[in-house]
Amino acid sequence: MKSTTALLVSVILCATAARAETAIDAIAAHKHMGVATCSSSVCHGASQPFRDSDIAQNEFAIWQEFDPHAKAYQILAQPRSQAIARKLGLGDATKAKVCLDCHADNVPAGDRGERFQISDGVGCEACHGGAQLWLNSHADRKVTHADNLAKGMYATADPVKRAQLCLSCHMGEKERMITHRIMGAGHPRLSFELDTFTWLKPHYKITANWIKRKGEWNGVRDWAVGQGVAAENLLDLLVDPKTGWQGIFPELVLFNCQACHKLMKDNSWGPRQGTGLGPGVVRLNDANLVTFRYALAPVDKSAAQRVFEQTRALHQATTQSRDATFAAARNLRGTLESILPKVSAYDYGATSLNPILDAMLADARNGEFRDYAAAEQAAMASESIVLAFENDGKLDKAMAASLHVKLDALYATVKDEDRYSMTPFVAALKDLRAAAP
Ligand code: HEC
Ligand code: HEC
Ligand code: HEC
Ligand code: HEC
Repeated sequence: MKSTTALLVSVILCATAARAETAIDAIAAHKHMGVATCSSSVCHGASQPFRDSDIAQNEFAIWQEFDPHAKAYQILAQPRSQAIARKLGLGDATKAKVCLDCHADNVPAGDRGERFQISDGVGCEACHGGAQLWLNSHADRKVTHADNLAKGMYATADPVKRAQLCLSCHMGEKERMITHRIMGAGHPRLSFELDTFTWLKPHYKITANWIKRKGEWNGVRDWAVGQGVAAENLLDLLVDPKTGWQGIFPELVLFNCQACHKLMKDNSWGPRQGTGLGPGVVRLNDANLVTFRYALAPVDKSAAQRVFEQTRALHQATTQSRDATFAAARNLRGTLESILPKVSAYDYGATSLNPILDAMLADARNGEFRDYAAAEQAAMASESIVLAFENDGKLDKAMAASLHVKLDALYATVKDEDRYSMTPFVAALKDLRAAAP
């Protein structure tokens, strides 16, 4: 009897593992106990970092004071949000599911513990997963990170899992869609880069102790993985009949905003090898697909070429038919899926950085950065690379300072999406490459 039960359990476990679980499913798999259950001063609510602990234990204080996620719910009460919700006919934004799904930890009522409060916004368990099974055990030093993961803690340290999690809100996915209608009502455009965004307001530090518990950390690898996962997500949304289409139109949020939102007198059209499209055609927002090619440059040149060709084929297919578009998107999706494990396992060391910059610059000179969204991604990629040069420890002070000046100049060219122009961007990227070691 016992062995039958064990067998049954393992069959169920295998079946669950085999199904590709989304980040949203994993986060919602167990009851969410609430931020108040994490924030005691002997847990994560210390005001100063603990000295003899694996972690600082002041994570709550940092989150509450500096992390925009702590204010994500309050944003919904502001006039700006209320206006968006009114235009969409949603009523009160703080009660609208579509807003709460991204601006709070909106698990179903039955999955909320006694101390859970929706007004906590994007709280601890919105990223670390429902703590029902691990809340009491995870502070024990004998308990390993693997034990916690097995009990439903989300693998935030794993770059692929982290990218899927962050993008579920920062790009939107099937269950949490940001639509062009929401943008049209006044929501800011979303843009995301995993490495840059992971380090904007961190409540964690990578130390020798962290590496011992959780494995290696590499910012450029995170950037590369983030591009691949975002590109996969774009294709998933595009081929989904519910999220990819609105009546006779495809969902416009998947396309390049500036392809439509440009001044009539702008006259800046020019050919792009990566699309092969002529003038006057609406283009998919391929920014992550473009940048992912540079991530592949040091890893697998033929895969980079395949992504280039299949992306171009996808752009071409969008001018033919919906079926052709779906087929091309699925082909490209297959390629990304097969190459992503190689990217996440690749050691992006110092020698990989210049090949990435070189691939980016060669494309820039060829006119690949006519579109703002790709240029913005290239700027964030450059930041990831500059920091990696610095962390490698071979830059002297003057060189590091000069690289930062060039990086700031590059960022200045993408500061305003409405005034973006390719020529100064390419010049700034060239300068940055020239200043690299
Ligand atoms: C797919 C997830 C998603 C959905 C759905 C969503 N938001 Fe957002 N929202 C975000 C993210 C992510 C940001 C932060 C963007 C950034 O700064 O990069 C944001 C930013 C905002 C901002 C600007 C905040 C600031 O600090 O400037 C407002 C206002 C806002 N959202 C309101 C709403 C309202 C109202 C709804 C419902 C109609 C909504 N959002 C639906 C993800 C979402
Ligand atoms: C927006 C997502 C997000 C939210 C919200 C969030 N975290 Fe984190 N947290 C992360 C990421 C990413 C890491 C770094 C990767 C890792 O260590 O697993 C991390 C790491 C940690 C660590 C591990 C540090 C280490 O050295 O192992 C602790 C502890 C932690 N968070 C606690 C909290 C607490 C407590 C809250 C709520 C007050 C919270 N986090 C909210 C994403 C989040
Ligand atoms: C449940 C949805 C959700 C998840 C998951 C999420 N975020 Fe956010 N994030 C938001 C919202 C909403 C905002 C905007 C909040 C505001 O403006 O106050 C935001 C804001 C941010 C900002 C500030 C952006 C800016 O322009 O200043 C950063 C950085 C950020 N998130 C990083 C991350 C990272 C890294 C992850 C994954 C580890 C992540 N987020 C996961 C919803 C989410
Ligand atoms: C295929 C063309 C197309 C694409 C691509 C597109 N839009 Fe739009 N957008 C429109 C149209 C059409 C309207 C409606 C204009 C009107 O109501 O007068 C609009 C309206 C808007 C508005 C409201 C403007 C107003 O006057 O109130 C915003 C904001 C907006 N879009 C943002 C975006 C963002 C952000 C993106 C990219 C993620 C995007 N759009 C992509 C065609 C497009």
